[in-house]
Amino acid sequence: MGQLTVKGLSKVYGQTAGVGGVVALRDVSFEVPDNQFCSILGHSGCGKTSLLNIAAGFEQPTGGQIMVDGEQISAPGWRNTMIFQEYALFPWMSVFQNIVFGLEMKGVGSGDRSATTSHFIKLVGLEGFENKYPHQLSGGMRQRVAIARALAVRPNLLLMDEPFAALDEQNRTFMQEELVRIWQKEPKTVMLVTHSIDEAIKLSDCIAVMTKRPGRVKEFIEVDLPRPRDEDDNRYLALKRKLRDLIHDEVGER
Ligand SMILES: Nc1ncnc2c1ncn2[C@@H]1O[C@H](COP(=O)(O)OP(=O)(O)OP(=O)(O)O)[C@@H](O)[C@H]1O
Ligand SMILES: [Mg+2]
Repeated sequence: MGQLTVKGLSKVYGQTAGVGGVVALRDVSFEVPDNQFCSILGHSGCGKTSLLNIAAGFEQPTGGQIMVDGEQISAPGWRNTMIFQEYALFPWMSVFQNIVFGLEMKGVGSGDRSATTSHFIKLVGLEGFENKYPHQLSGGMRQRVAIARALAVRPNLLLMDEPFAALDEQNRTFMQEELVRIWQKEPKTVMLVTHSIDEAIKLSDCIAVMTKRPGRVKEFIEVDLPRPRDEDDNRYLALKRKLRDLIHDEVGER
């Protein structure tokens, strides 16, 4: 299960005795049903990473809360796993060891651990690379390991902060398609942060469009286009135009 509820969330950094502080998020509320893929779309500095860090339990909100199945997230753990832009794999561990590590932490027995790790290595297309180390892999392959590691513990919520930003455009497009394939095989409630309108449309069931800082949800859009998403489809293009207008309004470029 993984019904995500973000309710009246606010985050102020560096506030002392009610004076000053940077308001990163103000009264953010939205809901993502179980196993849906939600993207958070907004400009730099609008509070996207702050939102994800609170959902991962790394940061505490100043007000409001994030809940999964009605239970407030207050600490990091296997229930809400994060995939970072820069992969964050352990460089001294092989692919297999990187993935099995989370299962050890969760207390999964050794037989299950091995079988689960092999299952996820296969799912992300890394069979044969079990004993390689991160430095022996390409950026896309490292991100596959990160995805396998995050999914292997069977979290209720998968969080991704611009996971493909470090890849070149061709690899990024390929990994977006791969992520959809993997997510369809292993459904999960996902919250993914992105700057990219196309990435948001290609991946998501719903998109929370943020205002500039302090970040609020400007519009919450359901995307009911069939997958795989066709960039030339008129509905795709209409949604792209709409998102571009919403986003551009935020910096006064038009
Ligand atoms: N630990 C912190 N201490 C103080 N201010 C912070 C901290 N983290 C973030 N901020 C501020 O909060 C605001 C939102 O930051 P955040 O990193 O959430 O934005 P973002 O939308 O992820 O930006 P980007 O797209 O550039 O990654 C920014 O003004 C930032 O400077
Ligand atoms: Mg960020």
